[in-house]
Amino acid sequence: MKYILIVTYTLCFFCFACKKDKTAPVVPPVVNLCDSINPVSFINDIDPILNTNNCYACHSSIAPIFSDYSSVFDARDPILKSIQHDPAFRPMPENGAKLPDSLINLVHCWIESGAPNN
Ligand code: HEC
Repeated sequence: MKYILIVTYTLCFFCFACKKDKTAPVVPPVVNLCDSINPVSFINDIDPILNTNNCYACHSSIAPIFSDYSSVFDARDPILKSIQHDPAFRPMPENGAKLPDSLINLVHCWIESGAPNN
């Protein structure tokens, strides 16, 4: 009799243990890409990207015109969409290979943090 009670008790324990496991879904932690990338600097990151990829060379005379912080700030959304090759925008750089994701992420995260002049 004592043995049956112990077995029953043990089985019940596992039943409840299982039930509890089922009601506790495993939620993967939300990782925001920009948390690990920001702060991004306009002077040290964004300006060199636009300079070395000839964006400034063409866009000092081709619309949208941008060559410094305030003009880049004004054109920031189309700049990001064009380097992401968003189908609604003309892919940039013109006649060049798509920029590496690491550089596109820098532009994305700089804009997400408010596109500061830093
Ligand atoms: C070889 C010259 C050249 C280079 C280099 C170049 N662009 Fe452009 N870009 C153009 C031309 C031409 C257009 C189209 C202008 C028009 O439609 O009047 C354009 C259009 C754009 C547009 C508007 C896209 C749209 O669909 O509204 C953006 C934003 C842009 N370029 C950003 C960039 C960025 C950022 C870079 C550097 C990664 C870059 N461009 C490099 C020539 C260039």
